[in-house]
Amino acid sequence: MADADAGAAPEPAPEPAPEPPLEPGVVPLEPGIWPASTRRLSCGDLSVGGVGLVDIAAEHGTPANVLDLAEFRARCENYRRALPDTEIAYAGKALLTRAVVALVHEQGLALDVCSEGELALAVSAGFPVQRIILHGNAKPPTLLSLATKLRVGRIVVDNLDEIEMLARAAHRTAPQPVLVRITPGVDAGTHRAITTGTEDQKFGLSIKSGAAAAAVRRILALPALRLVGLHCHIGSQVSAVEPYVEAVRRTVNFLAAVRDEHGVTLEQLNIGGGHAIAYTPADAEMRIDRLASAVRGALGHSCAQHDMSVPRLTVEPGRAIAGPSGVTVYTVLNVKHAGARTWVAVDGGMSDNPRPALYGARYIARLVGRVSSAATEPVTVVGRHCESGDILIDSVRLPADVHVGDLLAVPATGAYQHAMASNYNHTPRPPLVGVDNGRSRVLVRRETVADLLSRDVG
Ligand code: LLP
Repeated sequence: MADADAGAAPEPAPEPAPEPPLEPGVVPLEPGIWPASTRRLSCGDLSVGGVGLVDIAAEHGTPANVLDLAEFRARCENYRRALPDTEIAYAGKALLTRAVVALVHEQGLALDVCSEGELALAVSAGFPVQRIILHGNAKPPTLLSLATKLRVGRIVVDNLDEIEMLARAAHRTAPQPVLVRITPGVDAGTHRAITTGTEDQKFGLSIKSGAAAAAVRRILALPALRLVGLHCHIGSQVSAVEPYVEAVRRTVNFLAAVRDEHGVTLEQLNIGGGHAIAYTPADAEMRIDRLASAVRGALGHSCAQHDMSVPRLTVEPGRAIAGPSGVTVYTVLNVKHAGARTWVAVDGGMSDNPRPALYGARYIARLVGRVSSAATEPVTVVGRHCESGDILIDSVRLPADVHVGDLLAVPATGAYQHAMASNYNHTPRPPLVGVDNGRSRVLVRRETVADLLSRDVG
C-alpha cells in the first residue's frame, strides 16, 4: 500500500519571528556587525544575549565592554565546521579571561599565548598545557624557563638568539617541541602596524635571507629541541585569501628544501590568524569557508608538486572569534558644536579603545535607550582623554538631538579592545560583562582608582 504521505507537500519550515516594525527614527541593525543575538527593543534599547544594554549600563556602569558568549562559541564552532581536519588555535592576545579560556577549552581548540601573563592565566584557568602554543618575538628568559618547566605543547621560535636561550632552558630528557616562525615575504595589504609577512618588520626569520634555514639547521643540531614544524603569520585584518595561498606555497617550498637538505619531513604547518571582520558596513570580512578551500587546495597542490605528504595545518584566529562577539556601551558626557562638526564626547576613549588612534580603525555607533524622531546627522565621537587624537569615530550618523546622558553602543569591539586598554590619564579600565541566555555576569570587574593608587608605592 502506498504511503499516505507520499507525494504530499513537505511541511513548510517555520517562519522566523518577524522583527518588530521599525518605529519612526529607528534605524535597522547593520547586518553582520552586531552579535547574531542582538535585538531591537521597543523602547529604543538593544538587547545582546537576551540582556538589554540599558540594564547593563545601569547595573555595571559605563563604559562597559559586553561579550556575547554564545556568539564567541558559535564562531569557534564555525571554524571547526569549515576546517574539520585543521587545528584551530584561538589567539589569546585578542581577548583572554578565565571565561574565555574555559570556552576555548570547551570547544576543543588550542590556545596561542604570547606572554607570561597570558600563559599564567591559561594554566590557572585549567587549560591543558599540551594544547598551548607560545609565541613572541622577544620572549624573556623567565618566560622560556616557565614554559619549558610547564612543558608547554609548542614554542614558536622567532630568532636565532632565542634558540640558544630555549635550548638552555629546555629539559634535556624531554625535548621541547618547537616551530620556526618564518617570514614568507608576502604582503597581505593590511595596515603597516599589523603587517607581518614582509621582510622589513620585526617578526620571524626570513626565507629569502637564509635566516630561516640557519634556524632549522641549528635546532636540528640541539638535542634539547625537537623541530615539529613551521609557522607564519602574514598580518591581521586580512580579507583576501590570495596572500594566504601565496604564503602556503612559499612555506611548502621551504618545507621541501628542509627535507632535501636534512632528510627531515616536518609534520606541522601553522599559517597564523589575521582573518578580517567587518567593523562598518563598508568592510569586507574574511569568508572562512573560502579561506578553508583555497588554503587546503594550495597545500594539497604544493605538497603533491614536491611529492610530500600534507602536514597538519593549524590556524590561529583571534579577532574573527572575539571581535564580533563584543559591544561597548558608553554614556554621552557632552555635545559641542565647533568648527564644522558636532563633537559627541563619551565617558571612554583611547584608553579603552586605542585602535582608531593606532590603526585608523573605523567603527559605527548607535543611540540606545530611547527612540529619537530627529533626523540623523554626521557627528564625531570623541573620548575624554587629553589628546586631540582621542577620536573614537571620526564620522557616524546619530540623531541630531543626541544629548548628555544618552547611551551609545559600539559593535565589533570584542577583540584588541579590552585586551589593549590602558590607564592613560589614570583612567580605570572598564569591566567585561558576559551575556548569555538572558543573563549577565561580570567576567572582569571594573578597575577602580584605588587599584591604580595601590600600585604607586613610592
Ligand atoms: N597568530 C599570531 C602569531 C599573531 O601574532 C596574531 C596577531 C594572531 C595569530 C591573531 O591575529 P587575528 O586573527 O586576531 O588578526 N592589535 C591589532 C592586531 C594585532 C595582531 C597581533 N597578532 C589590532 O587591534 O588590529
